[in-house]
Amino acid sequence: MKFFLDSASLDEIKAAKDMGLLDGVTTNPTLMSKEKADWHKVAEAICREVEGPVSLEVVGTTAEQMLAEAKELVKYGPNVVVKIPMLLEGLKAVRSLREQGIDVNVTLVFQPLQALMAAKAGATYVSPFVGRVDAIGGDGMAMVEEILAIFRNYDLRTQVLVASVRNPLHVVRAALMGADVVTVPFAVLKDFVKHPLTDSGLESFLKDWEKVPKA
Ligand code: G3P
Repeated sequence: MKFFLDSASLDEIKAAKDMGLLDGVTTNPTLMSKEKADWHKVAEAICREVEGPVSLEVVGTTAEQMLAEAKELVKYGPNVVVKIPMLLEGLKAVRSLREQGIDVNVTLVFQPLQALMAAKAGATYVSPFVGRVDAIGGDGMAMVEEILAIFRNYDLRTQVLVASVRNPLHVVRAALMGADVVTVPFAVLKDFVKHPLTDSGLESFLKDWEKVPKA
């Protein structure tokens, strides 16, 4: 399973890369807004730093606007994946971009039928938002399981990119289900490394090491 970082922070991207946990990056307008810098420069720097795919999101809501934005976004590098919201107009844009050989990530997916429609339009990735579904009392990972089953039934090649990840179980279950990618914010990624038994185990090992006679 690939690990993407859900971030527009170059520092976070470099840190995840140093840990061998960076197969790609996903951004969105909210993440871009947190950088407080010219987004053109931010996007360019991310695409240069990352070897894998980088999702850059359009903000237009008509196919025409999305396609015009996509034309500019792909100039940031060969690894750009154009992120398109799950709208009827979005599906038109997806179809056109895929015909031009441009990779597309369909975002804001909240139920399996949306994912199937995105796959039919030719999306490279679909992004089900599991944390946001859980937050309104749904079961985000059950949605992912259904999407994976549907894609397998029809041999659809669209990759399932599990987004809006909040806890370790989201990632473990995604891996068990065979999801293609998870995208995780840096703070959440760092938390995943932690375990109280790791901390207490290390503490006792280091304490015992002090008792070992040293020449
Ligand atoms: O980038 C898309 C998605 O991962 C956003 O997640 O944390 O805003 O629900 P979140």
